[in-house]
Amino acid sequence: MLQDKRILLILTGGIAAYKGLDLIRRLRERGAAVTPVLTRAAEQFVTPLSVSALAGEKVYRDLFNLTDEAEMGHIQLSRSADLILVAPATADIMAKMAHGRADDLASTLLLATDTSVMVAPAMNVRMWDHPATQRNLAQIKSDGVSVVGPNKGDMACGEHGPGRMSEPMEIVAAVEAYFGLRPLSGKRVLVTSGPTHEPIDPVRYIANRSSGAQGAALGQALADLGAHVVFVTGPAVVPPPIGVEVVAVQTAQEMKGAVNAALPVDAAVFAAAVADWRVEGASAQKLKKVAGDMPKLQFTENPDILAEVAQMDQGRPGLVVGFAAETDDVVAHATAKRARKECDWIVANDVSPETGIMGGTENAVILITDHGADPWPSMSKTDVATQLAARISDALT
Ligand code: C5P
Repeated sequence: MLQDKRILLILTGGIAAYKGLDLIRRLRERGAAVTPVLTRAAEQFVTPLSVSALAGEKVYRDLFNLTDEAEMGHIQLSRSADLILVAPATADIMAKMAHGRADDLASTLLLATDTSVMVAPAMNVRMWDHPATQRNLAQIKSDGVSVVGPNKGDMACGEHGPGRMSEPMEIVAAVEAYFGLRPLSGKRVLVTSGPTHEPIDPVRYIANRSSGAQGAALGQALADLGAHVVFVTGPAVVPPPIGVEVVAVQTAQEMKGAVNAALPVDAAVFAAAVADWRVEGASAQKLKKVAGDMPKLQFTENPDILAEVAQMDQGRPGLVVGFAAETDDVVAHATAKRARKECDWIVANDVSPETGIMGGTENAVILITDHGADPWPSMSKTDVATQLAARISDALT
């Protein structure tokens, strides 16, 4: 979250300026206030009206504008923010920054400021590779400017290579990292989520009522704190989080394979509702209905993925968290489960139908650790996820 942060966003002239509009939205969604500045060239790509509508603030465009000077001079404007972000940053603005030029509002603000500056370059690959741009880049970096991107890829001009502006969410991540809001940066976290489907034959399966909502919220909260999240998900109702590595599986055995492939990790959170049993020798052909003859399904136990990871001799994640969905004696059952599986924490909840938790938006959990049982008040699954992610972050850092 970027609450109480003011960002002076300078948009310079490039086709990537359209991504600047989305960047404004993303920053504001996280609570940041955005003061927009447009260069003359940027106005060829986005209009001052759309920029100010999205920012919810006046757009600054002119160096010599008496109204602006009366309201806020350029010196004051350059110092009014917690961070100055130049996105997209053209080769031209980088050259001006490297040489200390001040011939328009944007370059003057960048010269006059005593605030940190971050740039997200965007330009043609030849312009990026040019020794002059690389010299300017090295110069502004040594002046203390932080640089996000650019990415490699297809460019609007039809060429391919480095020069594409970073995606808005990558820039937001860099801004949050700047403010120290990404404590899990560099950490790898595994989250399992959703139900599993255990086939009876090619068209029928055994499933459960897990929607995957709590697991998805948790994956999102951990990714928002900067973790690289490997999100191993069964066929869930809710979509996976944004900005995570998604591994989609169907069965418990596939989930086990995906979990093993994701290791080693710093922390592993098992929020999936894994089927305890699967049908032994599931039929390769659709079972035929024969009058009076019921199919006799033979069950066999699925691997307990959580217990296997928690009991690893070598390479065990530093923190292993399980979930326990219970319908009675929640604390006693969950405490016994924690001991039996040898995980560090159990997040327990009462999933009796009258609680409405399974498939609902609210959750009331009890966190069971080696300090005992800590019941949390009822809150949204998103809030449970945010608080649990914060606890995981504390444990890992
Ligand atoms: O034993 P139970 O299914 O109640 O345990 C729930 C916890 O164990 C959850 O964290 C779930 O993700 C995990 N689990 C697992 N593999 C299984 C069964 C449960 O990882 N086969």
